[in-house]
Amino acid sequence: MKRLLILLALLVGANVHAQKFDGLAATPQMGWNSWNSFACDINEQLIRDTADAMVKLGLKDAGYQYVNIDDCWHGQRDKDGFIHPDPQRFPSGMKTLADYVHSKGLKLGIYSDAGATTCGGKPGSRGHEYQDAKTYADWGVDYVKYDWCDTKGLSAPGAYTTMRDAIRAAGRPMLLSMCEWGDNKAWEWGKDIGHSWRTTADIYPCWNCELNHDAFSRLGVLRILDRQAGLRKYAGPGHWNDMDMLEVGMGMSGDEDRAHFSIWAMMASPLILGNDLRKMPESTRSILANKDVIAISQDQAGIQAWKFFDDGRLEYWARPLANNEWALMVLNRGEQAVNLSYDWKAHFISDEMSKREVDFKKAVYGWRDIWGGKSGDTGKKLEASVAPHSVLLLHLKTKG
Ligand code: GLA
Repeated sequence: MKRLLILLALLVGANVHAQKFDGLAATPQMGWNSWNSFACDINEQLIRDTADAMVKLGLKDAGYQYVNIDDCWHGQRDKDGFIHPDPQRFPSGMKTLADYVHSKGLKLGIYSDAGATTCGGKPGSRGHEYQDAKTYADWGVDYVKYDWCDTKGLSAPGAYTTMRDAIRAAGRPMLLSMCEWGDNKAWEWGKDIGHSWRTTADIYPCWNCELNHDAFSRLGVLRILDRQAGLRKYAGPGHWNDMDMLEVGMGMSGDEDRAHFSIWAMMASPLILGNDLRKMPESTRSILANKDVIAISQDQAGIQAWKFFDDGRLEYWARPLANNEWALMVLNRGEQAVNLSYDWKAHFISDEMSKREVDFKKAVYGWRDIWGGKSGDTGKKLEASVAPHSVLLLHLKTKG
């Protein structure tokens, strides 16, 4: 009997270790990451300045909280196998940096890889998972992006589970951002392991291009959107489809930037900024800090949008929001402006997945055009011109 009880206690104990930290991504995570702008050219001053800018520019108030260091922060492992930051780039050490970021009311993220080397050729966590998670926890890290280079022969569910368990054993709640690019369909098995999973190869700041970059393809905004087909059922509070970091402010047009940001919000993707916050023009800042778009992204219901109608020139996407509200996005992928005359009553919107539906023959909703500022209601046809490479983004509420 005693033996049985001990066995049971061990099993229960093992089960506790087999859980990710809950409550870290009830809505898609928001923050900044060094990779898109800086690649391997990073240092502690950049991270401090970025944290300062996040606060000063009102981005913290808008909801961004993670300052994430991507690849190449690493120095060497010591004789006991513990990893240290690059002493030239991070001379004050990661604990001091984490303390600084925390003093600003923000959180610190770090990057590692399931293989022996990261994508940038630095030491990965393979064989050091528990040691690394403990080290990050001791430093005060809040977020771990876990990449997938140099993993030949590894099982992805196995490797990500190991890091999840290592984080649990380290005892500090750290968000686990899984980055296996969809190669192993992380959405099918990742829900109880990480808080988000990348669905594609890396993003590139263009509307609809595909760039061959060594062995890797990099994808424009629409290419990434098109690869989300069928994935919405896997996302929800605590576990999100990650469409990769934002390229807003990285060279696309204002319309493209607004569309890119709107799409990521509608799709409940994490919103991780990729531009240089230290030199951001107001035109970019105002897109990234748009409270109405962020409210769609961070909606408590956590239901990803879907395309409910396509008239050949425009696509219509809907996202059911909490409190019986809706977000509607009309996307013009093409090269010409399109005039639209949309009869709300002719489109019964029904979502089998969330069981939400709206019949505008029966209910009148007020709408507000988030980027354009106009408003109206669904009692009348929606008349608008949608510029090329842009979206019309509406927030709908029942008229009370
Ligand atoms: C991979 C990831 C990127 C970035 C780089 C760093 O390509 O997908 O997001 O982290 O590695 O080397």
